[in-house]
Amino acid sequence: MKTLLLNKEQVGSLICMREVIGTVEEAYKAFNSNQVIQPDYIGIDLPSPRGDIDFKLGYYKANEVISMKASSGGFINNPTTYGVPSGMGTILLFDARTCALICVMDGSLITGLRTGAAGAVSVKVLARKDAKKITSIGTGNQARMQIRAISEVMKIEEIHAWDSTRETLAKFKADIESEFGIPVIMANSKKDAVEQADILITTTRGKGPLVEAAWVKPGTHIVAIGTDTQGKQELDPELFRNAKIVNDSIEQCIEKGETWHPLVKNIIAKSDIHAEIGEILLGKKAGRENDEEITIFDSTGMAIQDNTTSNRIYRNAIEHDIGSIFEFLKG
Ligand SMILES: NC(=O)c1ccc[n+]([C@@H]2O[C@H](COP(=O)([O-])OP(=O)(O)OC[C@H]3O[C@@H](n4cnc5c(N)ncnc54)[C@H](O)[C@@H]3O)[C@@H](O)[C@H]2O)c1
Repeated sequence: MKTLLLNKEQVGSLICMREVIGTVEEAYKAFNSNQVIQPDYIGIDLPSPRGDIDFKLGYYKANEVISMKASSGGFINNPTTYGVPSGMGTILLFDARTCALICVMDGSLITGLRTGAAGAVSVKVLARKDAKKITSIGTGNQARMQIRAISEVMKIEEIHAWDSTRETLAKFKADIESEFGIPVIMANSKKDAVEQADILITTTRGKGPLVEAAWVKPGTHIVAIGTDTQGKQELDPELFRNAKIVNDSIEQCIEKGETWHPLVKNIIAKSDIHAEIGEILLGKKAGRENDEEITIFDSTGMAIQDNTTSNRIYRNAIEHDIGSIFEFLKG
């Protein structure tokens, strides 16, 4: 049994953001076409100063691949005490016809790539066609990935950014301006930043509402990324009252996404959720219908995004003869 091994550098060289936008779009369509088996993900929380590790499992019938991604995070002493990053990722791919292990790859880049691509896919179907200005609440890793991906699907003229830490915000400005040449305006308040938005992305680790409903102008598209587990929150639940609400997976978003908050407060009912994004991509439900509506894409992240993206990396590696082979079983 031959298993292909791919390290982080190889993974990074084998796929570009444009290709990931395609694999994520494929994943969303597959999810709404009865092509996916994706059990609830499981994880283990370890006592502080350690963090947590979770395992996301997905089977896609069309590519006959089962993927499992292990992601850890929050191990703050790792770099200084053990010389390893505070968060890591590894992906295993199995051939679903035999369940042979066909690939082991570093997974630390894939979460960011597919999460950025998720935002870009939502922009394609839910943002106004004349959108130019992006507001970023949060300026960490995922914020950078959103900008990287969204700049593939539209021309961003300026970015208004806010962060709770001024140094993090200044670093974001320097990095984005040098990498993409897009001007970044460092906002003095969240309100100042949000009021500018055609597209609002939220990518913090916030645990309470950061964006008030009154600040969001008609026609804004919101990409809600940060809230992917219970206990996190970035948006005023009132924002959902009159918005067009789109989830990646309704089942996940009503349990651990931003959509949970207006539901428990009875601001919306489950039936007020307009669609899963795959339904819009498949043409079963409408995307944006006018320039006035506020659209919210709540993303919690799905195993099938990891599956289609890592499978493409694997196929590209085979095609270009990259990686090394390990035989767990001889013969
Ligand atoms: N939806 C998905 O598919 C998906 C995928 C990956 C990560 N995430 C989530 O996105 C969030 C951001 O991830 P990241 O990798 O960019 O993290 P990061 O640590 O790189 O950046 C986090 C940002 O949030 C800010 N922040 C931290 N705590 C805050 C608080 N209490 N209030 C306001 N701002 C705060 C930080 O200053 C920083 O700008 C996390 O919650 C992560 O779990 C979601």
